[in-house]
Amino acid sequence: HTAPILPGTPSEVWRYTAELRNGPADTITPVGGSYTGPLIRLRRGQRFHARLENGLPEDTTVHWHGLHVPSDVDGQPRLPIKPGEAMTVAFDVVDRAGLYWYHPHPHGPNGGRVGFQSYAGLAGPLVIEDEAERALGLPAGDREMLLVIQDRSFAGDNELSFISRDMGTIGFLGDRVLVNGQPDAAREVATRPYRLRILNGSNSRIYKLAWSDSRPVTVLGTGGGLLGAPHHYPFVTLAPGQRIDLWVDLSANEPGEELHLISDAYEAGVMANVMGGPDLSAGARIPLLALRVTQRVRTNERLPPRLAEDLQAPPVGRDTPVRRFNLIGAFAINGRQFEGTTVADDEIVHLGRTEIWEFVNDSMMPHPMHVHGLQFAVVDRRQVGGRRSWAGLAAGLVDAGLLDTVLVLPGERVRVALTFTDFEGLYLYHCHNMEHGDNGMMRYYRVR
Ligand code: C2O
Ligand code: CU
Ligand code: CU
Repeated sequence: HTAPILPGTPSEVWRYTAELRNGPADTITPVGGSYTGPLIRLRRGQRFHARLENGLPEDTTVHWHGLHVPSDVDGQPRLPIKPGEAMTVAFDVVDRAGLYWYHPHPHGPNGGRVGFQSYAGLAGPLVIEDEAERALGLPAGDREMLLVIQDRSFAGDNELSFISRDMGTIGFLGDRVLVNGQPDAAREVATRPYRLRILNGSNSRIYKLAWSDSRPVTVLGTGGGLLGAPHHYPFVTLAPGQRIDLWVDLSANEPGEELHLISDAYEAGVMANVMGGPDLSAGARIPLLALRVTQRVRTNERLPPRLAEDLQAPPVGRDTPVRRFNLIGAFAINGRQFEGTTVADDEIVHLGRTEIWEFVNDSMMPHPMHVHGLQFAVVDRRQVGGRRSWAGLAAGLVDAGLLDTVLVLPGERVRVALTFTDFEGLYLYHCHNMEHGDNGMMRYYRVR
């Protein structure tokens, strides 16, 4: 392409291609047979180097979502890679073992291009491994499934179509849901436990992950790695940008049976449903993945009662400072929109300190709030306003462990504890509904 592609224009797929220069051969593996960026597999403690070449007709960046890296290699909009240019980045891999991801983060004078570029195909998973996790012996190899869930719409000759009816409020919602770039995903499985590591790489859609036979959803970990122990939920609410690590045991199933991972129906408020039309509404019931039992095996693999031992929440006490962020409307935080690297006085934090950030959602929409450069812990979640809609997602919110993205439902106040360590400089915080972020619901904060 020679000109930027605007919303509504059918598009070809844009892809990350990667070539390994040095390191173990399994550092880069393709995901599915489609557009999804390759899986990057790193070891905690290693140093990672990448040369990023921009072959697109417009500026881009590569952001390492969830990773604790220096500001200058965080892929922020202030450091774009121009078309035809390259950038070299390097960082130490210090984060806990877990599923992270990478995606573009450009934001120009006309708004952000995160939504469009990710939609066109630029997003991929990144796994960090360590010895402690390996020692747990969780299902691995073909019993570990890495699933990138994204909704898309198609036009004409199967071109991607980036338009949907409530694009300006709810954000983009596609009419097909793809897993690793493929429709109607299915896997053949045996009568034994599996580990499913799921990334919601969608622009705006929130999934209510459940099993077709209504069994509880067993959670091993979240965006910041494994929990201390498995937790069970009736379903799991997974917002854009979030990851979840699940355990599912098929040992009580019979060959010939199928178990489906679905996104169950939920009430998403009036805006989603007023007009009808071809899109899958927010809150529609969607089949995601069919597990087809084809083989009987006998194993004694059991869910480990304890998981991570290195899980530590930032220490909070009575005198921990609280910073408040009001989410009103779809495109502002505390009434402010993205203003480039301009940072207000109340957006400066101190290196080495722990704070509580309080997100208050006084809008009609859920906002998955993401903070760059660190992992935080949820302190509490409370309903402070009358709940208007989306309340059916509440029972599946996984607030355990460490997160970099937390969903704040309408009428809720969510408090998270964060510690700013190691790196000074500029970082972003924003709504990870990509259309919200691209329309200005994003700000820089400064660590000093
Ligand atoms: Cu996943 Cu600021 O991004
Ligand atoms: Cu991020
Ligand atoms: Cu939002």
